[in-house]
Amino acid sequence: MTDGTGRIIDYLRVSVTDRCNLRCVYCMPPRGVEPVPHREMLTLEEIGTICGAAARLGVTRVKLTGGEPLVRKGCPRLVEMLKAIPGIREVTMTTNGILLPRMLGELTAAGLDGVNISLDTLDPVRYKALTRYPLEGDAREAIHAALGAGLRVKVNCVPIREHNDRDLEELAALARDRQLDVRFIELMPVGMGAALTPIPGEEVRQRLEAAFGPMEPYQGVPRGNGPAVYYSLPGFTGKIGFISAVSHRFCGDCNRVRLTSTGFLKLCLHYSDGVPLRELVRSGAGEEELARVMAKAIRDKPLHHDFGGKESAGWDRHIMSQIGG
Ligand code: GTP
Ligand code: 5AD
Ligand code: SF4
Repeated sequence: MTDGTGRIIDYLRVSVTDRCNLRCVYCMPPRGVEPVPHREMLTLEEIGTICGAAARLGVTRVKLTGGEPLVRKGCPRLVEMLKAIPGIREVTMTTNGILLPRMLGELTAAGLDGVNISLDTLDPVRYKALTRYPLEGDAREAIHAALGAGLRVKVNCVPIREHNDRDLEELAALARDRQLDVRFIELMPVGMGAALTPIPGEEVRQRLEAAFGPMEPYQGVPRGNGPAVYYSLPGFTGKIGFISAVSHRFCGDCNRVRLTSTGFLKLCLHYSDGVPLRELVRSGAGEEELARVMAKAIRDKPLHHDFGGKESAGWDRHIMSQIGG
């Protein structure tokens, strides 16, 4: 379907839980946040019904996010349910990778099409500092295992001054040596992110060119559903992507809406506008009725985010793990 300004909405980001096993400095406070009570979260069946309604409206691709989606029990079953919905062509997941190696078999059997693995540094000491994870989290193992399982893999890195400044070239080199894309995501001033200093995408690009040679814009088949812009580097197997929401607002091409773990259909990452669907689905509404309510809301999707603008009453005050990125 199209929104009120003619943008085609065919991508739904579904946050399956607000919980996470990490506490990344740009996302969560050190002790986490009060989790949403289980009864307020959609069941997997309710998520399935809402995705069925979304498919009726023309959504063809679903991204499972969190918090950390894999801490929610039954993720593989959800993938299977979503893949069985007529019209849904692709189900992918954005994960921190901690639980991925042990769940890969079930996820690929369920039909998962790809994973985006969040990894901001390959240095174990800085990884612990950035994620506040007490153990040696080995996202490298998750990447290796996901590639071995035949999944499409992207690595997501959020460059932050004084946190992973030194690690960007080494992370980019993952795309030289392996069949995967590495994306650099400009830190957005959402939740905890507002207190840190982003490294702008353009600066990252210049540094990578100095290290690896000139970048050429990639113009082949689309590599995802999201806002990333991709480049080729000489001798690289995979591509380098940039998601620069702050310096290059991409809202004119926005193709997505979000479903939070509590069943709120959220129209834009930056605003609290949307419509609650949980009580509707719990009262027995079917896909047709849900689709009608969703279509009406989507018509009023905000035109663009207002990062860097003056505080407005309509801004969403949630942190990123509650929104789902
Ligand atoms: P694929 O390329 O299809 O895998 O999708 P994606 O890039 O949308 O997925 P991912 O979950 O890895 O998101 C990457 C980053 O893009 C995250 O930081 C998201 O918060 C950000 N992002 C996704 N959609 C939007 C959006 O509509 N607006 C803004 N500002 N950021 C977004
Ligand atoms: N700005 C940009 N990206 C963020 N992410 C989490 N918080 C922010 C933020 N404030 C990223 C994570 C993950 C993706 C879903 O969103 O690193 O890769
Ligand atoms: Fe968890 Fe992702 Fe937030 Fe890190 S960025 S705390 S992995 S939800």
